[in-house]
Amino acid sequence: MAEMTYTIRLTLNGQPRTFTVTQEETLLHLIREQAGLTGAKKGCDLGECGACTVIMDGRAVNSCCVFALQADGADVETIEGIGTAEAPHPLQQAFVDAGAIQCGYCTPGMIMAAKALLDRNPSPTMEEIRQAMSGNLCRCTGYEKIEQAIAQASEIIAAYAEQNGGKAHGN
Ligand code: FES
Ligand code: FES
Repeated sequence: MAEMTYTIRLTLNGQPRTFTVTQEETLLHLIREQAGLTGAKKGCDLGECGACTVIMDGRAVNSCCVFALQADGADVETIEGIGTAEAPHPLQQAFVDAGAIQCGYCTPGMIMAAKALLDRNPSPTMEEIRQAMSGNLCRCTGYEKIEQAIAQASEIIAAYAEQNGGKAHGN
């Protein structure tokens, strides 16, 4: 018997999109296989590593643990939506500058978790950064450079907002 499918509509990186999904399909599968956005990674597929982190309605979520059906009507942001090679997001630039990337497998998830933090708390303490990033694992770098990169990006974003009358960074 053919599996039931459902039509969902969501905003993906600012664009309204329509997808046909099954009941079991995850948001990660939709993003990677249907939308062709391969920044979010399938690491553990169990909600433990954070490699699949995207932002859904302003919150960092493990997209391997969200059913695509749950994203119906949601606003979803992936690493592809926040910067380009020519105009990187301050977090992307800070990760490069701080040497917070080695193999890069964890990096898109790290940056999306960090972006969700800075969107709601533009000037976090180191402790708040550590807490917000506690669900994102990195096998390569140790965490110090990642935390430094996030702190550095928060300063750049704050300076930009000050210069531009409180306006958030364009990315
Ligand atoms: S792949 Fe989703 S948390 Fe590891
Ligand atoms: S840079 Fe390799 S897992 Fe984090």
